[in-house]
Order: sequence, then structure tokens, then C-alpha cells
Amino acid sequence: MVASSAPGKLILMGEHAVVFGQPAIATAISLRLKCKISPSSGFSVNGEPLSDRYHPYISSAVRKAWGSEPIAIDIASEMPSSSGLGSSAAVTVAVLAALSQMRGQFSEKNVASKGFEVESEVQGRASPIDTSTCTHGRGIFIDRTPAPDMLWEIERDTRRWFIHHCDVPEMDIVVGYTGVVARTGPLVAKVKHFADRSRFGMEIIEEIGSLTLEGLDKLKKGDRVALGGLMTKNQKLLAVLGVSSPEIDRLIKVSLPYSYGAKLTGAGGGGSMIALTDHAKEVSEAIRKRGGTPIVVRTGAKGVTVDTK
Ligand code: MEV
Repeated sequence: MVASSAPGKLILMGEHAVVFGQPAIATAISLRLKCKISPSSGFSVNGEPLSDRYHPYISSAVRKAWGSEPIAIDIASEMPSSSGLGSSAAVTVAVLAALSQMRGQFSEKNVASKGFEVESEVQGRASPIDTSTCTHGRGIFIDRTPAPDMLWEIERDTRRWFIHHCDVPEMDIVVGYTGVVARTGPLVAKVKHFADRSRFGMEIIEEIGSLTLEGLDKLKKGDRVALGGLMTKNQKLLAVLGVSSPEIDRLIKVSLPYSYGAKLTGAGGGGSMIALTDHAKEVSEAIRKRGGTPIVVRTGAKGVTVDTK
């Protein structure tokens, strides 16, 4: 039996724009997804038959990294699904890591690159940020340019992403889960539609890229006040792209009085917002009162792990 575990993730800055090749910063969080795989008499997930319809990420991962020998897969996740906290990427990465370990081919790079293929197949247009973050853990900075010490590079059509490790300090971030399930694929497609048809749309995406580079500088300097301010600006641009929602806006509004900054995280349209704050208790209370579910998470968690029993 092989057991693996992968962290959830938060995008601190740059979601959506990263799909166009712009920079982005993400961190692994203290919530994890655990996976166990063992030989079996049929393909199953938590005792149910494996199916493309109910387990699209797992089915795609099995096709890409396994063969026809039947296996039983057991999954237990601490993240709500479709919450913007990376549950799809974590399940993809944890399953790929366990399968590649069983084939003797485990490496972070191999898991991250196959993980991106799985996400692209299931979600449609995508960037490698979620799967690279759940694989490497700690922090990830995606840049437009390579560097000798980068982790890996991933390309698709004319887009290239250079994935770098980024030292994200351990901090508490309050997540406000709206409870609204929003699928990533259609939101990504909506932004593409906007950018394809208007120069203004593309300018917003480029502006998010520039803000993210400023955010990286503030993160490196440990300047939470400035970083928070940039996150809130990033949110305003995401709202212009049409990926915020009334529920996200409400949770951000009540969090901001106690926070350095707040924004949606992930695809938006529902899902979750995050607040950078030293007042986790007050922010959590405000989120709860406004109808959201607060979850305090710690940034900088370790990446995927595999263990053969
Ligand atoms: C979703 O967590 C992040 C998006 O940028 C999509 C992607 O990068 O694949 C919205």
C-alpha cells in the first residue's frame, strides 16, 4: 500500500492573470488531503466504482500514470471541494504521487507536470499554479522569466510558466468560505472571452501581473501592510474581470476593518476569500456573522509526501 498526502493552497496574488502567463504567488496551507492506494479486485474510490463522471481528476490521473491493474483509492480531504482552496489540485497531486511511487518514478517535477496535464484535461484552459503549489508546498512564485535555480518550467501552446520556490513566511490567514460552489473552467473561459474581445480586459490582466511583482517585493521585505494593500487592489481588478461575487464582496467588506487586505482566492464566482490580518478572531467573527464559514489556515505548509507501507 502507498499512502500520500498533499496540501491545499491559497493564491495570494495573480489568479486568472497567471492563466495568460502573468506572474502569481501562492502558498501551501495547513489543510491536507490524504490518499491511500492498494491493489484490489476492481478500480474504486472510497468503495465506489471509479468513474469519469464522479471522479474526473482521479480518472485522468490514473490514465496518465497507471495502467490496467485494478486499484482501490481512498481519499480523505480537510478542504471543502470547489472552495478555491485547491482540493482538485491536491487530489490530483496526491494520486499522481502515490501512483508514480508505485511505478518507481516519483519526482516533484514529474508529479507537477502530469498534474498540470490532468487539470488542463478536466478544467479546460488552466495554469500550473495550483498543481505546482500542492506538489512543492511552502511557496511558489510563477514568473515570466527563467532563472538557474527555478524548480521547473511548464509550457502549453504559446504560454510558458517558470516555477520558482518562494519563501512565504508562516502566517495565519483567515479564509472566508462563501459556501457557493463555482466551477473554475467556466470562470477561466469568461475571463478569456473578455480579454479576447477588449484591449481593456488585457490591460487589467497585465495590471494584475504588475501588482503581483510589487506584492512579491513586499512579501520578501515582510511588509504586511503594503502586501495587504496590494491584495485589496488585486481584488478590485478581479472584480472588473467579473470573477468576484456578491457573497465574496460582502465577506471582504466586513473583514477589511480588521485586516491589512482581503481578496478572493482561486477562481472566484463564489468559493473563498482570504484576509491578511493580525486579528484572526475578529475577522472570523465578522465572516461568520455575515453568513460565511471562517477557517484560519497557516501558510508555508510542506508539499506532497509519499510513504510505502
Ligand atoms: C484557480 O485556483 C486559479 C486560476 O488562475 C485558474 C488556473 O490558474 O488554472 C483561476
